[in-house]
Amino acid sequence: MLKTDYAKVSKVYDKNKGRIDFPRDEEIEKLLETKESITVLDLACGTGNYLLGQQQHYEGKNIRWIGIDLSPEMLDIAKSKNLSAEFINANAESFNLEEESVDLIVCNFAFHHFENKQKCLEKIYATLKKGGVLRFRNVEPECMKEWWVYKYCPETFFEDKFRFWPKDLMIYELKKNHFANISAKLEYYEKYKPINELVENYKRRDSSQLAMIDDESYNKGLQRVIQEVSQGETEYKDVVALLEIRCEKR
Ligand SMILES: C[S@@+](CC[C@H](N)C(=O)[O-])C[C@H]1O[C@@H](n2cnc3c(N)ncnc32)[C@H](O)[C@@H]1O
Repeated sequence: MLKTDYAKVSKVYDKNKGRIDFPRDEEIEKLLETKESITVLDLACGTGNYLLGQQQHYEGKNIRWIGIDLSPEMLDIAKSKNLSAEFINANAESFNLEEESVDLIVCNFAFHHFENKQKCLEKIYATLKKGGVLRFRNVEPECMKEWWVYKYCPETFFEDKFRFWPKDLMIYELKKNHFANISAKLEYYEKYKPINELVENYKRRDSSQLAMIDDESYNKGLQRVIQEVSQGETEYKDVVALLEIRCEKR
């Protein structure tokens, strides 16, 4: 499995505005209906955008916020946002938190990076309180084969087959690991955007797909993009399939 160098990606990660806005997480509201205080863990929190958004939405509520990430550089950016959260530099497979201490664990756009996913699920299960909720959000590569990254760098699609667990496998593994009430929601979006944005997006190289491949493959893809633009295209198609999986510890 190819690795993404988040020390490098951290320098451009927040320049992609699509990554910054996290809507209000209704799961937190539901938990607060029955509990006076809760603990929320953002596993592989990156630059802290989910935590930042939720702290604004739930200001004044009794919530202990924790962010864990393997990359010190991504965490440094999260810390610079003056959040009232505890940040832990650790691997999602072996972090050190008290057992049965967390009400909600979210993992956004990160599970594909974890080498030992099985171990990570066991760790999550041990860390969640009984009745606690686990929620993954990520893209679903199998349902977005037309994505421009895969189109111009087809090798990234094959790499993603190694990195991502598709929906049914996720559900199967969650069941095997004793999670209950598992539900999945898959949403697909497509939009035509100005072609000059394609060049910008490609050159930013902030997606793990473009960051993990070698420079030669990356530059070949860039040539394909430049060729497309030179043919007079004015728009390109952007697609995304978003998968949300939610489950509980009983
Ligand atoms: C695409 S970013 C997502 C960050 C954040 N969740 C968000 O939605 O913006 C993936 C993150 O996973 C982190 N990561 C990769 N492997 C990890 C691991 N084994 N344990 C913990 N974090 C990891 C990276 O450092 C990076 O910050």
